[in-house]
Amino acid sequence: MNETRSYFSAWKAPSNLAIVKYWGKKGIQEPVNPSISMSLSESVTTTRVKAVPRERGSVTFRLNNREAPAFLARIEKFIINLQDRLPFLSQYHLEIDSQNTFPHSSGIASSASAMCTLTFCLADLQQQIDPSRSIHIEEVSSIARLGSGSASRSVFGGWNLWGRTTVIPESSDHYAVPLEVAPVFQNYHDDVLIIDSSQKSVSSSHGHALMNHHPYREGRISQALENTTQLLKHLQSGNTEDFTEVAESEALSLHGLMMSSSPGYTLLRPGTLEVIHETRKFREKTGIPVAFSLDAGPNIHLLYPGSFQEEINKWEETTLKQFCENGQIIRDRVGKGPEKIIETTGVGPEEKQI
Ligand code: DP6
Repeated sequence: MNETRSYFSAWKAPSNLAIVKYWGKKGIQEPVNPSISMSLSESVTTTRVKAVPRERGSVTFRLNNREAPAFLARIEKFIINLQDRLPFLSQYHLEIDSQNTFPHSSGIASSASAMCTLTFCLADLQQQIDPSRSIHIEEVSSIARLGSGSASRSVFGGWNLWGRTTVIPESSDHYAVPLEVAPVFQNYHDDVLIIDSSQKSVSSSHGHALMNHHPYREGRISQALENTTQLLKHLQSGNTEDFTEVAESEALSLHGLMMSSSPGYTLLRPGTLEVIHETRKFREKTGIPVAFSLDAGPNIHLLYPGSFQEEINKWEETTLKQFCENGQIIRDRVGKGPEKIIETTGVGPEEKQI
């Protein structure tokens, strides 16, 4: 190869919270059931990649200015598997630098935003190096999926569906599609109550694998299909009460599946259950449609229409903060999706603006 210049790309992409949960895989990183998520606004990863020509592809990776060996191993595997689709990867050394706006193990999926930003950078670099190769957003989603399933849903802002359902003909197991939703859901809030920030004992990837021989596997797939159909209806009609019912059923089912796996495990903490009880009580008393959701961890996501922000924040301060580790609450909401970062770098034969 005679290429001597380096290239640079930087992107910012959000994490997302699934309401209908992806839990269980088939084939090559395909979901056993469809999932629906909202992309977040504040919880984002920014990734900068410098590609330097080399005889063979290689990678260095820093996360929040530190080495991160476990994630580096995951990125190396991801990149090796992509060399057919993005051929520049076999001829460049990549210096990858990622920064998260949210704390590690905060109940916000960092693999979704990290793999999503990285994929945008790689697709951008491939197109800079070979302008004849154009990469459509569906392909970005499909590549991000190979890094982490939930990352496929972070390529768009707003609400997204990943996985095949007959209700949405353009849906696919390979990439996510954006959804039209009622105005109330365009400004939905997600306050993350940090109940316990310690590293979880069982990874999501392991949890997915336990679904392969789970006694409730078929029942779970039917339930998720039905919840997908229902949620699509509620998102369109703007029915926040029915949305709440689906969101909570999915959160509890996810953790029920973990408890009934073989071996079984639980990621819930006493504070998680306290907040679930308080949420039900508050909803009954005030009529405010606030729902709890859970990711694969003990932290609670409180979901509610933006118009109730004041009441909810007051309640969080007076009643819920006591259950949070160091009183920590991360306030987020539906976001606009990934953005390319334009910056001047000292890369290449001369300063290059992208
Ligand atoms: C419970 O996307 O983290 O958050 O594909 O193995 O990287 P991998 O799994 P991951 O699983 C997410 C599981 C979940 C539900 C969801 O986001 O849909």
